[in-house]
Amino acid sequence: MAPAHFSTTQLGITLKGVFLLVFAISLLSCAAARQPQTQKLKVHKHLKRLNKTPVKTIQSPDGDMIDCVHISKQPAFDHPFLKDHKIQMRPNYHPEGLYDDNKVKSETNERESTLKQLWHVNGMCPEDTIPIRRTKEEDVLRASSVKRYGKKYKSTAAPRIMPKSADPDLVNESGHQHAIAYVEGDKYYGAKATMNVWEPKIQQPNEFSLSQIWILGGSFGEDLNSIEAGWQVSPDLYGDNNTRLFTYWTSDAYQATGCYNLLCSGFIQINNNIAMGASISPVSAYRNSQYDISILVWKDQKEGNWWMQFGNGYVLGYWPSFLFSYLADSASMIEWGGEVVNSEPDGQHTSTQMGSGRFPEEGFGKSSYFRNIQVVDKENNLKSPKDIGTFTEQSNCYDVQTGSNSDWGHYFYYGGPGRNPNCP
Ligand SMILES: *[C@@H]1O[C@H](CO)[C@@H](O)[C@H](O)[C@H]1NC(C)=O
Ligand SMILES: *[C@@H]1O[C@H](CO)[C@@H](O)[C@H](O)[C@H]1NC(C)=O
Repeated sequence: MAPAHFSTTQLGITLKGVFLLVFAISLLSCAAARQPQTQKLKVHKHLKRLNKTPVKTIQSPDGDMIDCVHISKQPAFDHPFLKDHKIQMRPNYHPEGLYDDNKVKSETNERESTLKQLWHVNGMCPEDTIPIRRTKEEDVLRASSVKRYGKKYKSTAAPRIMPKSADPDLVNESGHQHAIAYVEGDKYYGAKATMNVWEPKIQQPNEFSLSQIWILGGSFGEDLNSIEAGWQVSPDLYGDNNTRLFTYWTSDAYQATGCYNLLCSGFIQINNNIAMGASISPVSAYRNSQYDISILVWKDQKEGNWWMQFGNGYVLGYWPSFLFSYLADSASMIEWGGEVVNSEPDGQHTSTQMGSGRFPEEGFGKSSYFRNIQVVDKENNLKSPKDIGTFTEQSNCYDVQTGSNSDWGHYFYYGGPGRNPNCP
């Protein structure tokens, strides 16, 4: 394929022109052919790294392959610092009281009829394995580069600013828009919320819509530490419009460290029921059945690890303390709420929805909610948050409204349709 054997000096002047053209074309086509070759090789190498040999594979109705991988073979153990790590099979502390396996089991059974990941209809993973959503070639090819797959873009940091010290130049940075509630100014050792689950419409594949908890440490500059968990719709990441459970972590403001789900080594999973990145089903419908999920993230202050629980009984696993700098101690800010990417297609605001796609004013059954939002204090207790602030870049596009009552504790409605007459 190398074009070196062409010798233009032997050719006449007119021929030379034609020849140069052929030369250029062949160069071009060579480059075009070679590019995908190395790309393909890179992709396959990456897939080999990510996808561990499964004990069993379950095909989900949404097209996902769920690999049941032995717990000791999970991606976390590719990390040099985790080579000799002894997996912690349970946290030392649990903010909801002492850990009781029987209680957890009976609660789990009660909820099984409602709380589902779609792949469960075709089987479960055996003990001592963890379910991992298999990464397919097309998943990686949708990313801007192999290296970026599973990561957020540097310029698209999620919690873009400290709301109180809002720098107008930063607020609209990279088109990310939020409608959130937050607390700051204390030491936090975790957070919990029950969040309404919807399937917001995404206008463009490169946009996403998510609803999550942020556990934050450090400043919103180069070294932000963040642990994130919730649900998201992200066509670029997953190849469809399904609502999926996700986690994210970074210790350098979304630059070199961290990733979604288990797409890099970091999070250590111990649970064999719940797959990160898998579809959640069912989702809520307007003026119809409402579904929500509970997520709790807390710090085991003895070992320093940050644990995550899904629902009331599924302790998924933990982020080891050494992954972080600020969060190795505690969090300095907690945020709850929604985020979308507004890529301004056609120079107009995106019509990508946040939450249910409806504004907070509409209330239950129509607008999306977070209820019973709580923080974990130094004594490892779940507490009502104090001095809750709210933040949104453009309340005419996506808004947030807080409230409290005895049933729902502190709650808020959030979201919106994006583009509309007041948000052109
Ligand atoms: C996702 O939804 C958009 C419209 O919101 C649609 O154009 C697109 O085809 C959908 N993608 C898939 C994979 O279903
Ligand atoms: C963000 O940009 C929009 C539209 O350009 C503007 O109306 C809004 O005031 C900006 N938000 C802030 C907080 O500066």
